[in-house]
Amino acid sequence: MTGPKKLFIKTYGCQMNVYDSERMAEALGGQGYVETKSADDADMILLNTCHIREKAAEKVYSELGRFRGLKDENPDLKIGVAGCVAQAEGEEIMRRQPLVDLVVGPQSYHRLPDMEAKTRAGEKALDTDFPEEDKFEKLKSRPKAARGPTAFLTVQEGCDKFCAFCVVPYTRGAEVSRPADRILTEARDLVERGVREITLLGQNVNAYHGVGPDGDLTLAQLIWELDKIDGLARIRFTTSHPNDMADDLIEAHGTCSKLMPYLHLPVQSGSDHILKRMNRSHTADSYLRLIERIRKARPDILLSGDFIVGFPEESDADFQATLDLVEEVGYGQAYSFKYSTRPGTPAAERPQVDEDVKSERLQRLQTLITRQQRDVQDSMVGKDVSVLFEKPGRREGQMGGKSEYLHAVHVANANVKVGEIRKVRITDSGTNSLGGVLV
Ligand code: 5AD
Ligand code: SF4
Repeated sequence: MTGPKKLFIKTYGCQMNVYDSERMAEALGGQGYVETKSADDADMILLNTCHIREKAAEKVYSELGRFRGLKDENPDLKIGVAGCVAQAEGEEIMRRQPLVDLVVGPQSYHRLPDMEAKTRAGEKALDTDFPEEDKFEKLKSRPKAARGPTAFLTVQEGCDKFCAFCVVPYTRGAEVSRPADRILTEARDLVERGVREITLLGQNVNAYHGVGPDGDLTLAQLIWELDKIDGLARIRFTTSHPNDMADDLIEAHGTCSKLMPYLHLPVQSGSDHILKRMNRSHTADSYLRLIERIRKARPDILLSGDFIVGFPEESDADFQATLDLVEEVGYGQAYSFKYSTRPGTPAAERPQVDEDVKSERLQRLQTLITRQQRDVQDSMVGKDVSVLFEKPGRREGQMGGKSEYLHAVHVANANVKVGEIRKVRITDSGTNSLGGVLV
């Protein structure tokens, strides 16, 4: 083969998968691969999959089927499945789709270079173990090339909460925190390469308890360590569980100026009966009191959430309680889903709510959420926000970035560079973004 081999990665699902895809691409960079944006000229195709909601596995199989022609044209093409569908389905993937050469679960990415070599030797490679070693530590250190002004950094993985609807504890495994020194080293490297905003990632990020120099660090303590890095301007974290919103983390929202005023704090339902059946171990009221405390620490914080409608046993009254909770909180951003059965999870075995009822409830909830999002976005008009500029906009001379509240903001004829943070006065609120002028 001449020239570098080409790698095409398609990423589904959460931001943790986005981060994992970057790390996998870097690991395969050591095997002579460069990334390509098209599957057509790839020597290796990797699907980094998500299993959180409906028909995930079926989508992967149909996507894989589409690669048959490419493999006929290029017999050297290797096809791999990574991520949570790989973990959940394992060997079954190769049985059902013989085109697949490699199946790797989310905890085994550091073994990818060896697995790739195995496929080049004409063998199939499968690894869905939960090994003891830290995959990120074993992965190649991050390349020194310049990069954009924002980055994800996984600090914690897995979950011990076992919400009755969720596959994460099964696909990502038990909760594990990365040691603080490795996170800080990675953060400093990112900042040296131009990153100004880091989003700390974890399925249960606020349960972080990584080893530090003097015992375990909480997420808030880790944030304060990151706060000391010169050149790093913004810190965010996602996703959090209400029960792990510790006092020091709430306080940090009021006192750490680098910590951005945006919090994704899923509640899933507003009904105590459903929350109990979901095994959430909090009530609607305890969530609302928590929100009150967070808003006291940081009055302008923008809140975001996740909701599931049509969970088994959800009555009209239960659903109404969700609408009431949404009304009471006032979300700036929220994601809502119809409950979908995940095989192997407790709720999958229970009597299910009618599909029509689920659809109707989802529509009502989304109407309410969209209105709230819109109101919060519109309320920015006339205000000054700080914008981290990320890339040129679609129009000539336009630059786009994100406000501290994570709203997309565009500025026309902005004489600013990517990576600059500037005050912007918001002048208008569009469908999905705000417009403004430099102050
Ligand atoms: N059905 C519907 N939504 C789900 N989520 C997780 N599992 C399911 C499921 N089985 C949603 C939750 C979670 C988000 C990432 O996905 O709201 O917070
Ligand atoms: Fe899934 Fe989040 Fe519940 Fe863990 S806390 S089981 S990741 S929904």
